[in-house]
Parts: sequence; C-alpha cells; structure tokens
Amino acid sequence: MSNYGILFDLDGTLWDSAEHVATAWNEVFAQHPGLSLTLTADDIHGVMGMLLPDIAKKLLPDMPEEERTPLFQRAMDNEIATLERLGGELYPNLVETLTELRKKYKLYIVSNCQCGYIESFLNHHNMWQYFDGKLAAGDTGLPKWDNIKKVVEDEKLTRSIYVGDIYADYMAASRAGIRFIHASYGFGTVPKGTISIPSIDALPQAADAFFFGQEDKMKQKITAKVVSQEKLCDGIYSMVIEAYGIAAFAKAGQFISVYTNDGAHLLPRPISLCEVDKFAGTLRIVYRVAGFGTDAFSKYQAGDPIEILGPLGNGFPTRSDAKAFLIGGGIGIPPMLEMAKKLSAQGIAKENIMAVLGYRDVLFLNEDFAPYATVVIATEDGSAGTKGNVLNAIEANDLTADVIYACGPTPMLRAIKAFAEKNNITCYVSMEEKMACGVGACLGCVCQSVEVDDHSQVHNKRICKDGPVFDATEVVL
Ligand SMILES: Cc1cc2nc3c(=O)[nH]c(=O)nc-3n(C[C@H](O)[C@H](O)[C@H](O)COP(=O)(O)OP(=O)(O)OC[C@H]3O[C@@H](n4cnc5c(N)ncnc54)[C@H](O)[C@@H]3O)c2cc1C
Ligand code: FES
Repeated sequence: MSNYGILFDLDGTLWDSAEHVATAWNEVFAQHPGLSLTLTADDIHGVMGMLLPDIAKKLLPDMPEEERTPLFQRAMDNEIATLERLGGELYPNLVETLTELRKKYKLYIVSNCQCGYIESFLNHHNMWQYFDGKLAAGDTGLPKWDNIKKVVEDEKLTRSIYVGDIYADYMAASRAGIRFIHASYGFGTVPKGTISIPSIDALPQAADAFFFGQEDKMKQKITAKVVSQEKLCDGIYSMVIEAYGIAAFAKAGQFISVYTNDGAHLLPRPISLCEVDKFAGTLRIVYRVAGFGTDAFSKYQAGDPIEILGPLGNGFPTRSDAKAFLIGGGIGIPPMLEMAKKLSAQGIAKENIMAVLGYRDVLFLNEDFAPYATVVIATEDGSAGTKGNVLNAIEANDLTADVIYACGPTPMLRAIKAFAEKNNITCYVSMEEKMACGVGACLGCVCQSVEVDDHSQVHNKRICKDGPVFDATEVVL
C-alpha cells in the first residue's frame, strides 16, 4: 500500500454531535448556581472547531476565569460520558466510504478537541478498525497545524490531504503544508475554488483525483481576499492577498494569474510573487499600472474578493553554497525580494546575497531588501547609486558572484547572459511575455529555446509552464 494519508477533522466532517453536546453542557449549566444558559445544537455548531478556552470565553465572557474554567471542565467531562453513551449523527454512507478509502489510504483523525472526545466517537460507533491513528489538541497542547504536521512526519506519509469543514481547517492544512479538501456539507465556508465535496461519499473520487490524477496538484483558482493595497510610488502598487491554499505551496520566482473583477475582460494578468508568508497565508504582489488589467488591480481595496490562479511556473532553483547576484530591473525587481528572503533563510550571509536593483529614477522596494541582502542601486538618471544600468553598478562596485538570478526587461537579460558567459557564472533568468491561458495550453507565451522542446517539437519554450525561470544557456535572448 502507498504511504498516502487522509487526515480528517471530526465535527462537521465525520459526524455531527451538536445535539448531544448541547444536552450534556446544559445539564452541567443547570446545576451551576446563578447561571441561566441553555444552548441549542446550532449554538454548538457556531463554536465547533474552536479550542475549549476560546469557546468558554465566547459563551460566558463575563464570568470570572477561575469560575469559568472548572465549569467548562465539568461540561467537558459530562460531554465525553454522554457521547460515549449516545454517540452523534454520522454523515450518510460514512462507514461504506471509510471502507473504500482504507483499501488505498491510511486514515487519521486530527481534531481540536479535548482528550477523550475522538475516543467517544470511535467507541460508540465502533470505528477503531477504520483509522490508523488520531491526535487531539487536548493530547498535545499544540495547534491543529502542528498536530497535522506531527501525524504526517510520525507516520512518514509521502503525500497527504486534510479534510475539514471550516476556515480554520483550511488554514491549518495550509500552514502544515498539505492540500485541503472542503467538506462543504459541514458548518463553515472556505475560499471559492477550493476542492470541495458535497457529501462524504464523494471523497474517494476526489482523493483519487488528487493522489493519482494527472493535473498539477498544487495549482488552484480561488476567490481570495485583498488584505491591503498601497501605492509605493507613481504608478507602482503593492497588494497583499490572503490565499492560504496558494501560499502553502508557492515559491520564489513563481507567479499568479490575477483576474479583474470586470467579467468582460476574462483573461487574467500574470504577476510575480514578491513575498510569500506561509504562516499568515498571504501573497504580496508589486505591480506597475501598464494598461486596463493592472489599472483595475489598483482599484481593489482591503476586504475585496479577488480571483487568482496559482502558484504558476517553475520558480528559481536555489544554491545555498554560492555567492549570489539577485538582479532586478524595473518591475522585474519584486520577485527578487522573495528570493533574497529564501536565500537568507537558508543561512547565506547578507554580504553574499547582493541585490543589484536597476531603476529609471524613483526607487521602490529597495528598503525591503535591506534585512536580507546587500543592496546595490543603479539609476538611469544617476539620482541614486551608480548612474547607468545594473551591470554598470556591478562593475563600479567591483562585485563578483557564483550564481546570478535575474528578472527584468529582455535587453537587460540579454546583457546579463553575456556577462555571465564571459565571467563563467551560472545564470538563471526569469522571462516575461504576454500570456493568455497561463498554464501551458495555448502556446501564447513562447520564447525561443536552444534545444527542441518536448511539447511542441520546435525551438520553443512556454514561459508560463516551462518557465518563467530558465537557465540562461537554454534560451535565445
Ligand atoms: C511571468 C510574469 C510575471 C510578471 N510579473 C509582474 C510583476 O510582478 N509586476 C508587474 O507589474 N508586471 C508583471 N508582469 C507583467 C504584467 O503581466 C503586465 O504588465 C500586465 O499583464 C499588463 O496587463 P494590462 O492589462 O495592465 O496591460 P495591457 O493593456 O494588456 O498592456 C499594456 C501594455 O503592457 C504591455 N504588456 C502586456 N503584457 C506584458 C508582459 N507580460 N510583459 C511586458 N509587457 C507587457 C503591452 O504590450 C502594452 O504595451 C509579469 C509578466 C509575466 C509574464
Ligand atoms: S500563456 Fe498559454 S501557453 Fe503560456
């Protein structure tokens, strides 16, 4: 059997225990002097997935903590005893579905519940035989993403998915770095476009498509949320987007396709990832207003929904042993920032990461590089740094490196390729071309390659799919 694992949330995914949980808690509340609180199953649905102290605080915000904590502890004890006795409502066809899944996958439960809760599910419904393991927040004291990671690592799962029903599950899976499937029949919502199942018995097909399907597993089109939009200087904007499912798998040098919210202009625009924060689940893009699409992007405001597809492209390869030039020209500067952060995180000293940034006149993003790299600036008008281009700045500062990562206009990349060849430096270039599909299907974005391409059998490379990053020796510039 393959070492593929499916990790399940419990409430809203495998069963609904809310009715009996409400009964158990109400019995305890009724015995507490001076407390008049009666909960319904719907009240319980509203707090499912939350950690116990947060639930207690939400339901009884005015009760002193020294009174609230023991009260909820008694409610929890009664809950476990009640569920052991009465169980919960299993989602239709659960047993048949688990039986089928077990033929191919290892199955686990990872829940934010207290100790004993998963056991009450397994005991009452005689479910032990279907699962290879379980982990609750109450067992480890860890947040869900750490518990997911722990199961994946301890069980040495080569590939895994998490199935859950609320946004916190989606977030936890992404933070743990595994793909998420939304149980949309449960209690919560996640970004539109996330893989979802309308009932538990749809899971075997969705899991097979994920584990054994042909399509790119990491790419997805979702309705994400704009966190912030900031004008950096005239015509240049910085947007932060919350997109856990994409951030989890994104890397330096990749890009996303961004859609306008005007349905009439259907083609998305490719924009590089300037920064990726996997824990916060955010992507930062920095873009220049060039025409209709990017002008529409500049109108998005914090809180707006935004459709994006990604992560796309191959990204930069990294060498942790080398002194690197990160060369960005104009709007080719943004992707070099995530690359600087990545090299720095790999332990390369700041003096060995040289960000050589070329501007026409007004500077942007240069200060963001400072914590990770030695920043060298060139401006065409000489208003800052070396007057001239990025290669003039390298020469003026007498700099050398073992590897070059570059992004910018084609004439700049051509000159850098020649410089790398002359100085025997490995060089990776990130190329730009107008795109249509963005996923390798339309050949709208080809550049000329040195070798014949496997896909089209001509001297072509698709920038969106084979690139945008190429070893400079592979492409004709
Ligand atoms: C892999 C990749 C990553 C990119 N990353 C960024 C980024 O991080 N920040 C950023 O500002 N831009 C980036 N671009 C360029 C960006 O996609 C274009 O500026 C954008 O598509 C223009 O769309 P628009 O509707 O605003 O302009 P349009 O109205 O479509 O075109 C306006 C002008 O921009 C030119 N143009 C359109 N697309 C491109 C392109 N791909 N390259 C060069 N010129 C183009 C057109 O020829 C025209 O002159 C990237 C492009 C690619 C292929
Ligand atoms: S944009 Fe369609 S193949 Fe690249």
